[in-house]
Amino acid sequence: MCGIIGITGKRPVYTLITDTLKRLEYRGYDSAGLATTSQGRIDLWRAQGKLHNLEALIARSHEPPPGTCGIGHTRWATHGRPTENNAHPHISDNVAVVHNGIIENFRTLKSQLEKKGVHFTSETDSEVIVHTIDHHLKQGDSPLRATQKTLACLEGAFAIVILFREHPTMLIGARRGSPLAIGISEDTEEMYLSSDAIALAPFTQKICYLEEGDHAVITPHQFTLYNANNKKVERAFTLTATSGAISGKGEFPHYMLKEIYEQPAVVGETLETFIDSLKRTITMPSIGTIFGQSTTCRLIACGTSYYAAQVARILLERYAHISVHCDYASEFRYRDPMLRDGQPCLFISQSGETADTLAAMRLVRQHKKGKKNPCIALVNVAESSLARESDHFIVTHAGPEIGVASTKAFTTQLAALSCLTLALADHRGTLPQATIQTLANALIEVPTRINQILKQADAIKDIAHDLAKAHHVMYLGRDSLYPIALEGALKLKEIAYIHAHAHAAGEMKHGPIALIDETMPSIILAPPSAVQVKTLSNMAEIASRGGPIILISDARAIKKSAPQHAFAMPEVHDFTNPILYTIPIQLLAYHTAVSLGTDVDQPKNLAKAVTVE
Ligand code: G6P
Repeated sequence: MCGIIGITGKRPVYTLITDTLKRLEYRGYDSAGLATTSQGRIDLWRAQGKLHNLEALIARSHEPPPGTCGIGHTRWATHGRPTENNAHPHISDNVAVVHNGIIENFRTLKSQLEKKGVHFTSETDSEVIVHTIDHHLKQGDSPLRATQKTLACLEGAFAIVILFREHPTMLIGARRGSPLAIGISEDTEEMYLSSDAIALAPFTQKICYLEEGDHAVITPHQFTLYNANNKKVERAFTLTATSGAISGKGEFPHYMLKEIYEQPAVVGETLETFIDSLKRTITMPSIGTIFGQSTTCRLIACGTSYYAAQVARILLERYAHISVHCDYASEFRYRDPMLRDGQPCLFISQSGETADTLAAMRLVRQHKKGKKNPCIALVNVAESSLARESDHFIVTHAGPEIGVASTKAFTTQLAALSCLTLALADHRGTLPQATIQTLANALIEVPTRINQILKQADAIKDIAHDLAKAHHVMYLGRDSLYPIALEGALKLKEIAYIHAHAHAAGEMKHGPIALIDETMPSIILAPPSAVQVKTLSNMAEIASRGGPIILISDARAIKKSAPQHAFAMPEVHDFTNPILYTIPIQLLAYHTAVSLGTDVDQPKNLAKAVTVE
């Protein structure tokens, strides 16, 4: 959730830290802070709100932080309001700490420390880490030993980086449950610790991910890694695939819009990795072997990725005849799920770091009854924890997604899941080769079709202008378009702060219809398909009760039903409609949010990577 960075080198690090925090801000933006150490003191700078408040604070100072070793943090509040006092780093006499995650036993530790006379200045769980380390240092322990003793008494999931007043070139980082990576730059004689390889990309691509329970001591020239048993260990460094720097917004006013417009390219790249465009065949090596003769599977995810799982369920059942059970990871992990022997489990997560999804995978791994359940990850980050802990992973090629509301990560997930469906249909012999080729062909056309839709985006601005006046909005869809209706409602809530709810169109009569009046627009997703006529009947039921309609459908259906607002979509094979119908609902949410003047890229209370429960 929070972004953390530590840098130790030869030059003053505060601007390097604030630049890095810009790349980490998507993880949280309730407050930001940094600390550096030099001349036997720790300099601390913290500001409530976005990073620019911290930058402005430092800019106003006559004496910017001088240290060549420092730590920084961008916060998504868990314990304690988003105030300056609760902002990280937290400091004591001898240490400063940045923390991502939750210390579950902080109340016990806090009361033990208070009994020893320690005074707490924040409402956070994180402050106990600082005072516990400080306590051990004052007892004469070395920084490493004090850290190890502290780690031994912390419960929960976390990544931390610690700065020591009396050791001005050294940082210690520890990982348990939340990611942490070391980066080395040989050119600048600098060493880094960060929650995120993206943040380190402009400095170095030489990265080593700490494993569960690891901790590391770094200085400008050296690092030493220890495992959970405090034994020295070697871990491999890899060259991260993350591109050198996240390019800016270019000509676009927001990252979200830029990312919407990147979709033809990134969906195309994702499809290219799985489809042989000449033979129209699908290549997903090993997937047949992993699935074997299994006729069932589990799909587990959170947020937007969960809606991708719901689309995949429909595709896998229809085309590959695999019976699918979808679960929210946060529910799955606590409800004693009955896994069948050897049943494959597919975990979908663009970040590959979502705490609940990771925990759900670990739960499956511990499931010892019967034949092992293979764990497959579908991720956008090949080096992510989920990918590394899986038996097999599939990668989407969305590139870094900075807008907090997921757009291109979702459509690339849908593209990969469509390919997975065809690979399994082929493996199981549920579709004739000619049909597989037709469906592969429909997928290959998707980037062109997305472009076609994007060219008509102006039509959506007018609809959005009206939608911005609504306080409640209903989305309806059937079959594979029902999860897209859910995603549409989520997007509108996330960035325009308009209450929206989505229903399977057939369920509308069983309750939601009571809400219909002239103030609540309904957005109907009705592509040509076996159920189009049913959805259009539901739409008529809303219209006859005075509910305003926004119909997203093909030109013929729009002409026949003459709704208040409509957006005409290209007619394609039903197999690819979930990907294509996502584009207008993204644009609709985006332009509605822009009309309302909300913070599109960093909506309130949200964060991109949810690495806490
Ligand atoms: C957060 C993000 C969503 C994302 C969800 C799951 O809530 O704001 O956009 O869908 O986490 O993230 P994942 O990385 O697991 O796909």
